[in-house]
Amino acid sequence: MNKKIKKIISKKNRTKIVSLTAYSKNVAKILDNYCDIILVGDSMANVLYGLKSTHKLSLRNITEHTMSVKKGIKKSLLVVDMPKNSYKNKNQGRENAKMIMKKTLCDAVKLESNNKNFQIIAELVKSNIPVMGHIGYTPQFKSKFTVEGNTKKQAKKLLDEALKIEKAGAFSIVLECISPKTSKLITKTLKIPTIGIGSSSYCDGQILVTDDMLGISGFYPKFVKKYASLDRTIAKAVKKYSTDVKLNKFPSTKNFLNGSRIK
Ligand code: KIV
Repeated sequence: MNKKIKKIISKKNRTKIVSLTAYSKNVAKILDNYCDIILVGDSMANVLYGLKSTHKLSLRNITEHTMSVKKGIKKSLLVVDMPKNSYKNKNQGRENAKMIMKKTLCDAVKLESNNKNFQIIAELVKSNIPVMGHIGYTPQFKSKFTVEGNTKKQAKKLLDEALKIEKAGAFSIVLECISPKTSKLITKTLKIPTIGIGSSSYCDGQILVTDDMLGISGFYPKFVKKYASLDRTIAKAVKKYSTDVKLNKFPSTKNFLNGSRIK
């Protein structure tokens, strides 16, 4: 097993796992100093491409952004979302995952669960492709953005699903928008680490969409804590630039290229 994956698993019940999303090299380079896992999430469909859902994101989109992110990473575990329809069956899933791994040199892929595709996870794991699972709100398969696990019946269903994903060989699992009680139950029952988003602090680690926590996406559900308001910082800088250009303050003589020196 990949050393980085072993290290993530060994954090369970010891230290919290820190994860964020990245879609480009420059952002990944900053995150790499502070994160255990960097996910090239298919949330890029909404965040970067302005699409209504993640459904139309292509393998090419995810592969090319991952190639960029990889260039910014020295130590974090690089996980890549498999886009919807790229793992409809075992063969297709295996071949596409192999292609992603080969082209991007990522460490693992993430598959959203539809409570049926456990065999696909098992097939990838059998082919030496590390898999992260994902249950609860899974935007590739569910349209209702809601909290799951509030009833005993839902809790049992989610726990069964998580156990099947663990049995299929996944090395960790994302719990998205799952009630605190059920997240606690799943985290206590599973041997593999749980990474929560909107699923309380009972999980073994946390993940957020970076653009949300930096205050640049405009999407701030209750579970997102805004650690910065980069929208305001960028607006302030762009406003100043605009004024400088209009008043002929930029470029100043400091920025003129008189000789051959460019730096
Ligand atoms: O696509 C994504 O960014 C994700 C995270 C929200 C876990 O799947």
